[in-house]
Order: sequence, then C-alpha cells, then structure tokens
Amino acid sequence: MKQVSPEALIKQAVTAAQHAHCPYSDFHVGAALLTQEGQIFTGTNVENASYGMTICAERTAFGSAITAGIRTFEAIAIVAETLPYPCGACRQVIAEFCKPDFTVLLATLAEPHIIQSYTIGELLPHSFSLKPNP
Ligand code: THU
Repeated sequence: MKQVSPEALIKQAVTAAQHAHCPYSDFHVGAALLTQEGQIFTGTNVENASYGMTICAERTAFGSAITAGIRTFEAIAIVAETLPYPCGACRQVIAEFCKPDFTVLLATLAEPHIIQSYTIGELLPHSFSLKPNP
C-alpha cells in the first residue's frame, strides 16, 4: 500500500468501531478507506430499530468519501471482534468504485490483530455491471 501502513489503517478502523451504533447486534464494525492521494475516510455500522435500515461500516466510509468528491481508492481496512468478511451488498458497493486489485484488509479488533488481506476481485468475482461483458 502506498503512503499508509496496514497497521495505521487498521488503527483508524479500530477507532471508528468504537463509535458504532449497534444496540441490536452488539457487533462493532469499523472501516478505514484509503484514497489514492493518501487520505483516510472512516465509517462504522449504524443500526436502526427498523433493522433493515442498518448501514454497514464499509458503506458509511464510502458514502463519506464520495460526498467529499473522491473517486479513486486504494484499500479498505475493516475490523470487528471476529474477522469481518464484508457482506455481499458491501462487496458490490466496493466493486462500484474500485478495480479488482483493490485491497480489502480484514482484522480483529483486539491486539495482536489477526489480519487477512484479499482483493475485491477475489471476494466478488463477476460483480454486477451495466457495462457490456468483455
Ligand atoms: N456489518 C457491517 O458493518 N459490515 C458488514 O460487511 C457486515 C455486517 C454490521 C451490520 C450490523 O450492524 C452488524 O454488522 C451485524 O450484522
């Protein structure tokens, strides 16, 4: 990863997870999204009494970056008590903005972190697209 170490990105995701609104699941998720310019946008899960309204940490982070006008991304760190493999909806959202080699770092909240690294292409091959298939 350019400019920011995996550990630094995970640290910001851990801080975001501390702000989770998750009274229903008690599953705290934090995400830290690294742009190609080296900026970091964080997100956490925001639950609702109407459960289906819940927003995942990854989508919160992307929404924040997109709102700031950013469109080029390098990596995302996602942390939770257990390794937080992103849900299918979040994989599709990542695929909307990122090339298949975009890095998805997963880590446990507690230190020493268990860390796994994937690309979005590995996590979501054949993502939905309106563009013609190659
Ligand atoms: N969650 C995320 O934030 N990201 C994911 O990729 C999967 C699940 C959150 C949503 C909900 O608040 C909690 O984890 C339990 O599903």
